[in-house]
Amino acid sequence: MPNNNKQPKALTILTKKIILASDHAAADFIQEISEYLKSTGYEATILKAETAFTYSEAADAVVSHVHASTHVLGIACCGTGLGISMRANRHKGIRATLIHDAFTAEMAALHSHANIICMGSRVLTVEQACALLDIVLNTPFEGGRHIPRLEQLDAPTGEK
Ligand code: RB5
Repeated sequence: MPNNNKQPKALTILTKKIILASDHAAADFIQEISEYLKSTGYEATILKAETAFTYSEAADAVVSHVHASTHVLGIACCGTGLGISMRANRHKGIRATLIHDAFTAEMAALHSHANIICMGSRVLTVEQACALLDIVLNTPFEGGRHIPRLEQLDAPTGEK
């Protein structure tokens, strides 16, 4: 029977490998998140620096892995998720979304097709963060009209 299901594949199918990094404020937070992800079948790896990453360094480290493979989902955390998301989004091809509730988690996957999820360890409990990641990882990208919109993110801004 032909497969007429045009629904894009869910991140659950494409993404089994998850790369995490944080600054000092979220080190324990991502450790617990990583353990949770492993317990649910994901291959989760925490990137570490000799001395703690700053939030920009952590963002850059996650970005390098996301750039290397479309099958990798990045998780980048700092105290608020703000600084690390700002830095991650300075890189071409990166769609880093700051999530803080079930709606933003769903939209991060459904409309924004996020390749990096950012969260704040001073905003969310570990339990809340893991519940939001469950939503992200089980929500397929809607595709369609969102594709040209996402492509526009990397269009030149025209600034000198
Ligand atoms: C570190 O204290 C804090 O500023 C950082 O983790 C983050 O919240 C910045 O956006």
